[in-house]
Order: sequence, then structure tokens, then C-alpha cells
Amino acid sequence: ETTTDGETTDVLVVGSGIAGCAAALSAAREGADVLLLTKATKPDDASTDWAQGGISTTRGDPESLKQDIIDASDGTVDPDAVDTLVEHADEAVEDVLIDTLEVDFDETANGDLDYTREAAHSEFRILHVDAATGTHILRPFLQYVDDHDRIEVCQDTAALELITNEGRVHGVVSDEEPAGKPIYAGATVLATGGIGALYSRSTNPDDATGDGIAMAALAGADVADMEYIQFHPTAYAGDDPFLLSEALRGEGAVLRNGNGERFMDDYHPQGDLAPRDVVARAVEAEREATGEVVLDVSPLEFESEYPAIAEKCRDRGIDGDEIPVAPTEHFLCGGIDVDDRGRTSLDRLYAVGECARTGVHGANRLASTSLLEGLVWGLRAGADATGFGPEVVEAPELLNRDPELPARFAAEKFTRLQQTMDEYLGLERDPDEIARASAVLRRLKGEVDAYIRTRTARELYELRNASVTALLIARAAGENTESVGCHYVATDADESTVEPTADD
Ligand code: SIN
Repeated sequence: ETTTDGETTDVLVVGSGIAGCAAALSAAREGADVLLLTKATKPDDASTDWAQGGISTTRGDPESLKQDIIDASDGTVDPDAVDTLVEHADEAVEDVLIDTLEVDFDETANGDLDYTREAAHSEFRILHVDAATGTHILRPFLQYVDDHDRIEVCQDTAALELITNEGRVHGVVSDEEPAGKPIYAGATVLATGGIGALYSRSTNPDDATGDGIAMAALAGADVADMEYIQFHPTAYAGDDPFLLSEALRGEGAVLRNGNGERFMDDYHPQGDLAPRDVVARAVEAEREATGEVVLDVSPLEFESEYPAIAEKCRDRGIDGDEIPVAPTEHFLCGGIDVDDRGRTSLDRLYAVGECARTGVHGANRLASTSLLEGLVWGLRAGADATGFGPEVVEAPELLNRDPELPARFAAEKFTRLQQTMDEYLGLERDPDEIARASAVLRRLKGEVDAYIRTRTARELYELRNASVTALLIARAAGENTESVGCHYVATDADESTVEPTADD
């Protein structure tokens, strides 16, 4: 419904990846009217569309999946959250992906579902569609929500601020014309994805600017585990990086250093299939010591079994079986702190998918649990978010006196932010460098805030969101002096073993 002051809906979902679609679907199934707001203009603006390896199931052995999740995280997960994930995994996959969306998961020659494996999984239990699983899930999901009578999809529209009143969230102010239009909702579900745009190299789309995390934090919601940022060990090492799925190693591809030697057995008993944080640091160390690391795909039927990845290789002019790889930002394990139904610390505000911290990933996420987490928590949050009517309260008034940003302002500041994150908050961290990063980021945020007082340009808000999220990461990283999972605090001793000296 549109009022003179804005729009109203029962449930507002912000974001159009698997978690947002799942939240919209389950709220609609409960009889709610849903508005799904997304700044995306096409499916591949959402990270889900970029997901390769697949979606984990229990394959009839929940205890074994639980144990792998716990082990990959160095025992840092919330066990209750893992129970929730694993308990609902197979039902969610079957109900939504197989029965409702009819995703055409790969099958064996006998017509059974084909399960693959990725690093740190002790079983073959991952459903996939070659290694382009996200696309094959998201496209029918978007079609389904778009066709649904109770769900209205509003594309190319960003949420800029949450509307709050006495600790309760009442919707968002969007950048729909006229900029600053309020959308009032009984409950608001943030499903805005990750933070890839904070780094110069990421496996995420460019618009992963931490929007939901920043908006929620600015409204006073709790965030947690922000220092746990996963770097995928095998993204293409050249310009325009893309993911080389762990499923390739799960099926037999191996890592080799610049001397052509396999090296992962020297780093971990699980070798090439060690947890992702371990492999990422080993790849970086070997790149420094021997000049490069390649993924040798010669043990696979690469072209026929992984056509989407093979095509990306061809596009970049890579021929042959050895693909140069480097660790690249991939996934934020932390985020907006939520409970087992996606409820945040603010009333009527939910968060699901990569922007949320459910406790399932701890300090290092197990492969192929992110689509699953988005699906399970999306369904749970969407159902829980129903039953509240929208209330029209005073919304933040955004000023748009100056329609244009100074040329190049956002691009230049984004580059500075990325350089700071790459240099000081990457694979290895050092307390002094983190403090330096915080100082740079605080100054940057101050400059952005000055512009935001008079402008509502989307790229300015994205920059604001990225700098708020970056500051949360820097703060969390500075407060956690212990190396665990993907938060690795370098010491002098580490540096001498990782970096070869000039004599080596
Ligand atoms: C991959 O395919 O390697 C990525 C899977 C994931 O991040 O869960």
C-alpha cells in the first residue's frame, strides 16, 4: 500500500540472494504481504549467483556434518546454532530447492543425486549443478518470488537507513525517488550479503558493500565475529579474479608451488583438503617462497565437468591444466548477531545470510554451508517475522540538496579503503597495523559523513556502509589478539618462517 508519506508492508526483506528469497517465501507462506527490496538490477549482483561448489546436506549422517563444521572452525562455533542448521538442512533443501524450485541437481549415471566433496568435509554430501550451483538455485528462486501473489519485488532500489523508534525497527528509508522515501514494515529482514567490495580482490560482486551490517550497527544492533573474514585459497591470481571451487580439489585437483611440488601435506594432515584458512595461509607462504602456486586440474575431466569455470579460464587466456591461484576475500563469518530465528538485538529487525552472524561458522566456515545457512535461516526468520502490522513513525529525513557527488569522490575513497583493508586487514594481521588502519578508516568515514549531510547518492551510502563495516572489522581484529581460524595475528617468529630471507 502507498500512503502519502511512503509505503507499508507486513514484512520488508532487503536483499535478493538465497537468504532474502527464502525469507520472502516463508513469510508469504505464512500469509504475510512481503516487499522484497533490492539494489540489484540483475541476478549476478547477488553473491548467491556466484556460488560454485554447492550446498551441503547431511546425506543421512547429521553427526558427521556437525563434527566437520566444528573441526573446520577450530571448535569456535555455537553448537546450538550448528544443531539448528543440521537439523533443518535436508528438509529445507528438499522442500524448497528440489520440490518447489525443481533445481536440476547433477545426477550420477544411475539417476541418483550426485554428491561432491570440498575441503574439510569427511564425506561426499554436497549437492551441485556442475560448479555453478548458485546460479542454478537463484534464477528459479527469483522467478518464483517474482511470480508470487503476496510478494512484490522492487529492484534497483537501495535501503539507506533503518527507521527506528524506541529500540524497534519500523522499516527503511529507501533511495526510490524522491530520495528518502520511507517504507514502513511490521518487521524488517536484512539479507544484504557480504563485504567483498572492501577488498581489491574478492570472489563477491562489486556491490557487496556491507550495507545491512552498517545500517544495523548504526541503529544500535549488536554485531559479532567481524574479524573472521575468510579468504578463499584458490581464486585466479591474475586481474579480474574468479573462484576455482574447492570441489575441484574435492574431486582430485592438487596445489603445486613454483617448483612444481605438492606442498599441502607439509602443512596439515588433510593435505589439499585441509580447512580453508590453513590452505589460504599455506598458498600465500608458498607464493612468497617460490613465486607462484597453481591448481593442477589434470586429474579431472575439467572441460566437460566444470564448463563454467573452464570458460572463465578461456576468457582470461589461461590454457593448459595449471591455473595460477592466490587467496582472495570470499566470505565474512561474522556479522549482525542473531538467534536461531534470525532475530537481532533490535525488536522487529532480522538478519539472514552472509550479513548475519548465526554462530554456525565460528572463526572459519566449512565449505558449502553458506547457501545452506542462508536457506535455513531465511526460512526461519521469514516465518518468525510475520504477524506484526506496520506502524508509521517519524522517519529519518535525508537531505538531497546537492544531487551530484564531486566527480571521482566515491571511486577514490573506495580505492583508499580497499588499499587499507588489503594491507592491514588481510590474511595476516599485526596489532600496530590494525591501529593504523583504524585511524585511516576513521578519517575516511569523517569525510564521507560530511557529504552525506547533503546528498543521498547511492554510491555515497555504499561508501559510508563500507567504511562503517571496515571500522567494525578493524575494531574486532584489534580486540582479538589470539590467532584462531581466519583471524591470524602474525608474530615476529611467524614472519621469519613464512618469509624467505634474501639468502634462501
Ligand atoms: C567453493 O566452491 O569453493 C566455495 C564454496 C563455499 O564457499 O562454500
